[in-house]
Amino acid sequence: MRTKVAIIGAGPAGLLLGQLLGQAGIDNVILERRSADHVLSRIRAGVLEQGTVDLLARAGVDARLRAEGLVHDGFALGFDNKRLRIDLKDLTGGRSVVVYGQTEVTRDLMQARGTSGQPAIYGAENVALHDVTSATPRVTWTEGGEARELTCDFIAGCDGFRGISRATIPADAIRTFERVYTFGWLGVLADVPPCSHELIYAAHERGFALCSMRSATRSRYYIQCATTENVADWSDQRFWDELRLRLDPEAVAHLVTGPAIEKSIAPLRSFVAEPMRHGNLFLAGDAAHIVPPTGAKGLNLAAGDVHYLSQALIEHYGERSDAGLIHYSARALDRVWKTERFSWWMTSLLHVFHDENSFESRMQRAEFHYLESSRAARTALAENYIGLPLT
Ligand code: FAD
Ligand code: PHB
Repeated sequence: MRTKVAIIGAGPAGLLLGQLLGQAGIDNVILERRSADHVLSRIRAGVLEQGTVDLLARAGVDARLRAEGLVHDGFALGFDNKRLRIDLKDLTGGRSVVVYGQTEVTRDLMQARGTSGQPAIYGAENVALHDVTSATPRVTWTEGGEARELTCDFIAGCDGFRGISRATIPADAIRTFERVYTFGWLGVLADVPPCSHELIYAAHERGFALCSMRSATRSRYYIQCATTENVADWSDQRFWDELRLRLDPEAVAHLVTGPAIEKSIAPLRSFVAEPMRHGNLFLAGDAAHIVPPTGAKGLNLAAGDVHYLSQALIEHYGERSDAGLIHYSARALDRVWKTERFSWWMTSLLHVFHDENSFESRMQRAEFHYLESSRAARTALAENYIGLPLT
């Protein structure tokens, strides 16, 4: 089998890249280790930047997003039992974000893939990349016990943090930067109306809590927990009781509880691999970088990479120019590092790291009071939250 671009991974990065390339007439094959149902069962991000929405529109997969996505013009920071509203629209000259789950983005992209005629192979086992620095890289895998092979011009490594693509790059050709946090987020999805029409990021001495949503009837809540916690030890009742302790009185008054339809613990990590290219292998999304979810940036950053990489590949095949491919890693990394900074800052501001009488804890309090009193500080927060420009 032969194609122009072999895409490893059918998460949002791989599927969106496949769609944009397909539209430009560039043949591609997506290879995914899991089943499509498994990919759709993972509950992850919920907030889309305008730039991500625009890219999904360009890819022709925004019909349901436009109909069902919830436009949010602001969100709240909670501290000292009060809320500080961050008015995104006012602070950014009219911009906002859209609440629409990653599961739905993935479903829309899978549907588009199904009608595009471009192949997507699910359940591809033992995927291996070969000759990635040559002009004819190869990908091998097994499918139902049978050995398969694909020859291509380029490989896009969109296979997430634990994928094979980054692991294929020799250690002396890649540098990694990492911060692992000692806590994670315990998340619950429930078919109950949200306690607030906007997201609440609440700092509390018992730990951070986030009130988010998927629709007017489906809520997503998170609480900071130790990474050593076991989901099985968290009954629905225990989760709701702990959440209630961390929210302001108005949020508690509006909190509707119900059975969890999903409950999981996600560890928090900051990670960047440099460069995002090795020969004709290009990394995009979580394969190259991880942000803690506090700034709602993981999925949006993956979309940003895909924007740059799709442009570069379209330029290569259309205009016979390799400028985009040459500059891909540097362009993407510039935005990645700024977004890493923002996600690290939001995480540092909102979580319990130290005891409440520590210097760091006073710094958090001072930061909140500064945000309260300074429009400039709120503007800096808002312009990062809505997403830095895709240059
Ligand atoms: P992924 O979505 O990880 O997709 C990679 C795909 O590659 C997967 O389908 C995987 O099965 C496949 N794959 C892996 N290895 C191989 C292989 N060897 N061969 C073939 N295929 C392979 N972001 C937020 O903004 N907010 C959140 O609340 C949030 N919560 C998260 C919770 C969890 C548990 C995780 C893991 C991430 C979360 N994120 C969140 C981050 C966000 O979901 C990711 O940034 C986003 O999924 C990145 O998309 P991606 O396509 O790069 O990678
Ligand atoms: C979510 O709804 O899952 C969500 C929203 C905002 C975040 C992280 C996760 O910052």
